[in-house]
Amino acid sequence: MERNTSKKRWGFALVGTGVIAPYHLKALSSIDECRVVTVCDTDSHKARSFAEEHGLAWTDNLQTILDDPQVDVVDVTVPSGLHAGIGIAAALAGKHVMVEKPIDISLDKADRLIRTCRDTGVILGVISQNRFLDSMQTLYRTVESGALGTLLQGDAAIKWHRTQAYYDSGAWRGTRELDGGGAFMNQGIHFIDLLLSIMGPVKWLQARCKTAAHRIEVEDIGMVLLEFESGAYGVIQASTAFFPGLPARLEIHGTRGSARIEGERLAFLHVEGEDSRQDPGGAAGGASDPKAIEATPFEKQYRDFIAAIEEKRDPIVSGTVARKPLQLILAIYESSRLQKPVELAKFS
Ligand SMILES: NC(=O)c1ccc[n+]([C@@H]2O[C@H](COP(=O)([O-])OP(=O)(O)OC[C@H]3O[C@@H](n4cnc5c(N)ncnc54)[C@H](O)[C@@H]3O)[C@@H](O)[C@H]2O)c1
Repeated sequence: MERNTSKKRWGFALVGTGVIAPYHLKALSSIDECRVVTVCDTDSHKARSFAEEHGLAWTDNLQTILDDPQVDVVDVTVPSGLHAGIGIAAALAGKHVMVEKPIDISLDKADRLIRTCRDTGVILGVISQNRFLDSMQTLYRTVESGALGTLLQGDAAIKWHRTQAYYDSGAWRGTRELDGGGAFMNQGIHFIDLLLSIMGPVKWLQARCKTAAHRIEVEDIGMVLLEFESGAYGVIQASTAFFPGLPARLEIHGTRGSARIEGERLAFLHVEGEDSRQDPGGAAGGASDPKAIEATPFEKQYRDFIAAIEEKRDPIVSGTVARKPLQLILAIYESSRLQKPVELAKFS
């Protein structure tokens, strides 16, 4: 297909050339209005081999990227506890910022990033690519049309498996300092964000989590009972210890219908008075292999992000939106630590 040459092409720098970086590169390479200018990694061997494989420039020095006038957007794909620091440096250099999930691992750092981007007038986006799956788009439309009736319960079950070798593959994985948490903060956050995007804010929750099957500092199993502000109930289960790992589930129940997302597909949708429907096929969405994820939703999220820059508006997953699952997950940890219910309004 011919490239559209009349529009501006936004120059991107990828900071972090690990597991998720190729998905970002692939998504950005599919969009006419984007071009990846350069990559950066503090591990110069990784930066160099990634750059050489894809015919890109590279550096191991963030400042080089911040000084580069060809770079309009800094795309942060480093360990989770480093997102805000790099995002803030980029915003202060006048670059738009996209960071991987979670926005960061503390509300204080997330708030500083959000504030700095607002004050410097740059756009901040946070990856939550599953929102852009066709299955989720169908579910959003169905819920917005009121077809499910009054929503009574929303559940998320992320019963995945990660090997000890996965945790050992990076010194940051499974640490409090840089992963910030385990099955909820790193893996479950995807479906927790989807749950909140449909059910709205949470009023209170009660949770238990523990480390059951790995040599890590953070939880690999946990359960949560909660009530949304709407009055609907919810249950969240998250694990990385369940061999062999099942596709994650999001289940929404209303007075007139129910829906289930399983992995990346709409596995069940039944509305009163209509035939039930199911989408065939679809991937398991990282249930046992962290690399078995669909690339297309990243591209769709980037298209929204570019439109947000051009229209000077917030992207669908802005910093403020991405703060919500982080807040919920930190409240889950607090409830588990205190062995008590936690009111979300008192937790910010
Ligand atoms: N959206 C998704 O589906 C998805 C999937 C996997 C990972 N992630 C997120 O992406 C982030 C990275 O995860 P990963 O699995 O790619 O990790 P990784 O360890 O494979 O890669 C991280 C890279 O960042 C580099 N790095 C560390 N500190 C740096 C710094 N200060 N400056 C530049 N580079 C630095 C490391 O050398 C490494 O190459 C995490 O926040 C994770 O939660 C998202």
